[in-house]
Amino acid sequence: MTATDAQDKLIAAAMAARQHAYAKYSKFQVGAALLTADGQIITGANVENASYGLTICAERVAIHAAVAAGHRSFQALAVVTAGGLTPCGACRQVIAEFCDDLPIYLVDANKPVAVASTNLAELLPQPFNLDR
Ligand code: THU
Repeated sequence: MTATDAQDKLIAAAMAARQHAYAKYSKFQVGAALLTADGQIITGANVENASYGLTICAERVAIHAAVAAGHRSFQALAVVTAGGLTPCGACRQVIAEFCDDLPIYLVDANKPVAVASTNLAELLPQPFNLDR
């Protein structure tokens, strides 16, 4: 599989995961897909709660599901939103627990071909880390 094929597959998985978003309150659906070091794809969608602060972002659902399945090393993350927005600060910190850096593809659900590429180091240059 070429790098482009892998990226397309990851984005398609994040798009599909977004369909499962439980965004009853904000109506803002987010889908995320992580490519593990060994080539697996683990997805997440945001899950809201009537007690708003209990909402979990799509990126954290994906990373926690991946870690719970035994993955701690990742190649890339795709995030799909209306507008192709960047992950929130809390999600950046959670990703930083497992990744020094990580390519992140930001996808606008309405224009999925125009993918913006960024990375964790750019989005969170100084994560909190007890070891540093
Ligand atoms: N959300 C995510 O899933 N990821 C982010 O990085 C930021 C926000 C979700 C949380 C909530 O369900 C909705 O988007 C609006 O904030």
